[in-house]
Amino acid sequence: AAPERETWTSSTGFILAAVGSAVGLGNIWRFPGVAYESGGGAFLIPYLVALLTAGIPILFLDYAVGHRYRGAAPLSYRRMARPAEALGWFQIVLSFVIAVYYAAVIAWSLSYFVFAFDLRWGEDTAAFFVGEYLQVGEPGISTTLVSGVAVPLVLVWAAVLVIIALGVTKGVQRVNIIFIPLLVLAFGGLVVRALTLPGAADGLNALFTPDWAALADPAVWIAAYSQIFFSLSIAFGIMVTYASYQRRRANMTSSGLVVAFANSSFEILAGIGVFATLGFLAHQQATTIDQLEGLSGPILSFVTFPAVISEMPGGAVFGAVFFGALVLAGFTSIISILLGVAASVQEKFGLTHRTAAVTVCVVCSVISIGLFSTTSGLIALDTVDQWANNVGIVVSAIAMTVLIVWVFRTAPVLRAHLNRVSTFRVGRVWVVLVGGLAPVVLTTMLVQRVRTLVTEGYEGYPAWYLLVFGWGTIGLVAVGALVLTLIPWRGRDDAGFRAWP
Ligand code: PHE
Ligand code: NA
Repeated sequence: AAPERETWTSSTGFILAAVGSAVGLGNIWRFPGVAYESGGGAFLIPYLVALLTAGIPILFLDYAVGHRYRGAAPLSYRRMARPAEALGWFQIVLSFVIAVYYAAVIAWSLSYFVFAFDLRWGEDTAAFFVGEYLQVGEPGISTTLVSGVAVPLVLVWAAVLVIIALGVTKGVQRVNIIFIPLLVLAFGGLVVRALTLPGAADGLNALFTPDWAALADPAVWIAAYSQIFFSLSIAFGIMVTYASYQRRRANMTSSGLVVAFANSSFEILAGIGVFATLGFLAHQQATTIDQLEGLSGPILSFVTFPAVISEMPGGAVFGAVFFGALVLAGFTSIISILLGVAASVQEKFGLTHRTAAVTVCVVCSVISIGLFSTTSGLIALDTVDQWANNVGIVVSAIAMTVLIVWVFRTAPVLRAHLNRVSTFRVGRVWVVLVGGLAPVVLTTMLVQRVRTLVTEGYEGYPAWYLLVFGWGTIGLVAVGALVLTLIPWRGRDDAGFRAWP
């Protein structure tokens, strides 16, 4: 007989692991910059709308599919309706792509954690990051290895491999039980410290002062929905996989609400911490926040922040805690991705857990190290991130909602399933949101976004480059998904599978 499927040992174990997946680099280095650029305080409106109309409903959808069909994304979708396996693979290959560059940002954070102790980045933090540390070259493909990035990146991948090979309870759950409380303490302390810096209040004003006109800009709404998907780890097949390890009698929707609330709280907290600190920077330089540059993306964390840290009394401690928190948050997220990919490969090819874990981690790490420890790293990362998050995940979410609700018509079954196991019941409005509002809004956004990317390009990078790294990424995910679906199923299939009543 096949071995029993591993399970989280308690609901707390599941919740901590799901929070670990959700709370990640997206909260700390993505959210504050996105919010600031997209209307400040006014951004909270599209953000909350996206959370309530798509984020939480699709989180429940992920949970329902995984818990009912008890497989990683491809197997769960296959059991739901055979051809839907392709959707599972699309999500899993997309996750794989994210993991490739996500690991690089964790590696940078690990380096900066060490640099913090002697403030190694010096006066000109931009020159240090781009020139000395990353040694960025022209957009293109380079083979010059940058050892300062390669070494931490290898360390990150080795740690990921060990945890995934240890499995769900001994590996992933245990890491989260230790790291999540540690992260909350560390980050909480950081925010308190930031709020006591001179100028902190100006920083908060800059973040929260609403620019109402931003609400009329479709790009702001796209930013809100993308942020919610990425941040909650939904429509990536990852939450399907996590839910599949949950026990039969599990309160799925209530756990989901806890996870969503924890993630958004952490996001707002990160926004407060980051902007209080920027307020201090503005105060030191006798200027205002809107005069500062480099308030978004990797530059915010790796150029602007180090500059502030250098000016702060006790900056070394603050810096070590900040970059340490990035490492903890990022690590618990990347292991969720790799677990999702490894479990999918394991089930499809009938491998043991360990063989699948080692194979997947080795393949992913080789690509990751090859692409991101060379001088072409930063620009490739920026481009792949843009396409994966503004195009790939939106396509995934549209496909998922339309297939489940309209093509295979499993929404009523999934709703009944959720209501049978959970105390927080989902009404018919859930089906309306998932099958009606979400796909309409998402499709409108996608069309807009694709049109802009096609006509205006991105960041002035050469067209051939966007074709390869941007559109190429999406093409690769689609082709990869198709190929993986067409390979004959070698593991235990759906024969004899009975969904939990
Ligand atoms: N949710 C994570 C973050 O906010 C990123 C992530 C995306 C994790 C997709 C898993 C899957 O950083
Ligand atoms: Na998040």
